[in-house]
Amino acid sequence: MGEHTTIDGIDYGPLASLVGTWEGNKGVDRSPEPDGEERNPYYETITFEAAGDVTNAEQQTLSVVRYHQVVSRKSNDEVFHDQVGYWLWDPADNTIVETFTIPRGVAVVAGGTLAAPDEAGQEIVFEVAADASSPEFGIVQAPFMFKQAKTTAFSHTITVKGDDMRYSESTILDIYDKKSYDHSDVNTLRRTG
Ligand code: HEM
Repeated sequence: MGEHTTIDGIDYGPLASLVGTWEGNKGVDRSPEPDGEERNPYYETITFEAAGDVTNAEQQTLSVVRYHQVVSRKSNDEVFHDQVGYWLWDPADNTIVETFTIPRGVAVVAGGTLAAPDEAGQEIVFEVAADASSPEFGIVQAPFMFKQAKTTAFSHTITVKGDDMRYSESTILDIYDKKSYDHSDVNTLRRTG
């Protein structure tokens, strides 16, 4: 990673491509209902900020980008999803980690290895996953959620090309009478600041 990924003296590597304010209005959420499911078109703003670096156990140094995602339903303009978290990059082995929480009582630590850039070197793909059965890249949830609306797995892919971003994510739920329901979200965004 080169000079252009350095912000205030810290090399954010691939994470530098995320920094800024992104807006998108082509979102589609698929989520569970007792009698089936609903699909909601949405728009959102995601802000990513360079947040410095950390050293763990005097060995591992991670660069850190902090984010806040605010998602609104198109049909009534109400915020129906809010998420805060971090993306971390470890240059030693090119590991990326996304940690986040949502205000239902669920926290996720998802990880992956950064894919090699595409041929033209323009697209950066961040792909991470977590599984509730894992003590490492896993999911922790409050008792009500664990019993009634359990997240069993999570995967997320973000692709950035210049000022364009697209993502898809999949949150696997055991809820109502559904086992492994795929609660999914996709959107495309543009950097606006
Ligand atoms: C753009 C992103 C997302 C949107 C728009 C969204 C929206 C929704 C909606 C509309 C529901 C069902 C209706 C409701 O009860 O409110 C729901 C349920 C749920 N979501 Fe999401 N969600 C998103 C991402 C996530 C993520 C990343 C997670 C966790 C990793 C998550 C976890 C859950 C859980 C556990 C439920 C079940 C609770 C319930 O339906 O009562 N969601 N979400």
